[in-house]
Amino acid sequence: MGALEGRVTVITGAGRGIGREHALLFAAEGASIVVNDLGGSNAGEGADAGPAQQVVDEIIAAGGKAVANTENISSWDGAKGLVQQAIDEFGRLDVLVNNAGILRDAFIPGMEESQWDAVINVHLKGHFAMLHHAAAYWKAQSKAGDQPNAAVINTASGSGVTLPNAGQANYGAAKAGIAALTLIAAEELDRYGVRVNAIAPIARTRLTLATPGMGALMAEPDEGEVDLFSPANISPLVAYLATEKCPITGVVYAVQGGAISRLSGWHDTETIETDGVWQIDDIAGRLPS
Ligand SMILES: NC(=O)c1ccc[n+]([C@@H]2O[C@H](COP(=O)([O-])OP(=O)(O)OC[C@H]3O[C@@H](n4cnc5c(N)ncnc54)[C@H](O)[C@@H]3O)[C@@H](O)[C@H]2O)c1
Repeated sequence: MGALEGRVTVITGAGRGIGREHALLFAAEGASIVVNDLGGSNAGEGADAGPAQQVVDEIIAAGGKAVANTENISSWDGAKGLVQQAIDEFGRLDVLVNNAGILRDAFIPGMEESQWDAVINVHLKGHFAMLHHAAAYWKAQSKAGDQPNAAVINTASGSGVTLPNAGQANYGAAKAGIAALTLIAAEELDRYGVRVNAIAPIARTRLTLATPGMGALMAEPDEGEVDLFSPANISPLVAYLATEKCPITGVVYAVQGGAISRLSGWHDTETIETDGVWQIDDIAGRLPS
């Protein structure tokens, strides 16, 4: 029996890259998958039903269960339709993997409103729209006396939580927001039987190959070498976090090249105090920097 036997799972952006590997592994482990992908370019332009359908065909050819969905997950109604499709096709929803993503890098003075909006929409709003509609379904289930054993796995990035990456103000801000959203959602949804975690992955995909300097870091391995930076090496962690038996919630993990690290967020490192009213000079002389 697979580790995810019978788990009904929605995976966004599962037509390519890391999401595709999640879909193939989840299906091989017995999950029923709604494979979502809009099929656009790296920058999120255009649409193509091909990538989602190809992954579905591959899963079905291997004996698994999957259906395709080509909604834009940054659309409120598109996200709602995606959750509803899982319920209509497979009778329920157990796991949501928020993975879809795009890049529109630019330095702040030259970043256009459309570049900011597109990246915030796909990543931050897309994560929230999916989370909202899935959470509403799980809350209703819980209130009806059928407590879910559900899991959400979000996709953050080092460029937002560990490494301020110049040229990615839009992307890093969205990914930092996704990490915060994960912790808040874990607090809120525990009562409905929903665990919420996130990953900050690094793997060789079209997104990283298009990022200056990243391609060299993740070169194809020589024959016989283990391919640590394959996107397939990200999916086992996500699959574990999706299992019924996993107890973990409210954690963001970095996963890259054979290492998995538990990340910790903003915390106090040094404090100055006063007994009275703050004075500018007092702050200037004592403020940690
Ligand atoms: N590859 C890495 O090293 C890396 C590093 C940090 C974070 N990430 C994150 O991992 C996730 C997957 O990235 P990837 O590297 O596999 O990229 P990818 O481009 O190979 O795959 C992303 C998929 O998302 C789909 N997509 C984009 N916008 C969509 C939308 N609005 N609705 C539905 N589908 C949409 C695309 O069509 C694409 O197939 C992203 O969230 C990315 O930010 C990746």
